[in-house]
Amino acid sequence: MPGLLLGDEFPNFEADTTIGKIKFHDFLGNSWGVLFSHPRDFTPVCTTELACAAQISNEFTKRGVKMIALSIDSVEDHRSWIKDVMAVSSEADHTLPFPIIADDKRELSVQLGMLDPDEKDKDGLPLTARCVFVIGPDKKLKLSILYPATTGRNFNELLRVIDSLQLTAQKKVATPVDWKPGDKVMVIPSLSDSEATALFPKGVTTKDVPSGKKYMRYTQI
Ligand code: BEZ
Repeated sequence: MPGLLLGDEFPNFEADTTIGKIKFHDFLGNSWGVLFSHPRDFTPVCTTELACAAQISNEFTKRGVKMIALSIDSVEDHRSWIKDVMAVSSEADHTLPFPIIADDKRELSVQLGMLDPDEKDKDGLPLTARCVFVIGPDKKLKLSILYPATTGRNFNELLRVIDSLQLTAQKKVATPVDWKPGDKVMVIPSLSDSEATALFPKGVTTKDVPSGKKYMRYTQI
């Protein structure tokens, strides 16, 4: 993802959105944030993604994460599209529980490296890819993913990675494959055995591996 690396301060951009003009850092306040981009309004995969995001938005709120979407159409188009999105999410009487940025000039999409060169509109201009940025309360980029326009994301997987990001920001652990909250976690390699024993009162277990190296260290948080 050109330009923006993990640990970089996320740009404090100004944008028009469905809740009015925002300055991104003010919008985030002291919360975590997730910004996810969409190729275009009134497109089928994007509509399923936004409908899912709306349905599980309370799970993001529980984790202290503010959500914001982006698409390269106008606020007026977004407002009209939201009615479709909420109907698809079976909540036609409700409003979308997070704003959508109107990046109709593609300025932010260019700045954040979000354009998909393989997907073009009828005028030959590139559409936005399916980008996700998770931003920490320190305004630094904690995670980014980039899917092409033709592959929808899994928003429950985003909740899982946010659980991991929030846990590993607090404790000297890492989460293994397919980890979910409550599962055992792994002691990070930079911690010595004695430091690990002191830090993890529930104990550290080591899985034996053919190399004889003692790096597969598990603990329970
Ligand atoms: C969609 O959201 O369905 C979509 C958008 C652009 C290209 C392909 C699919």
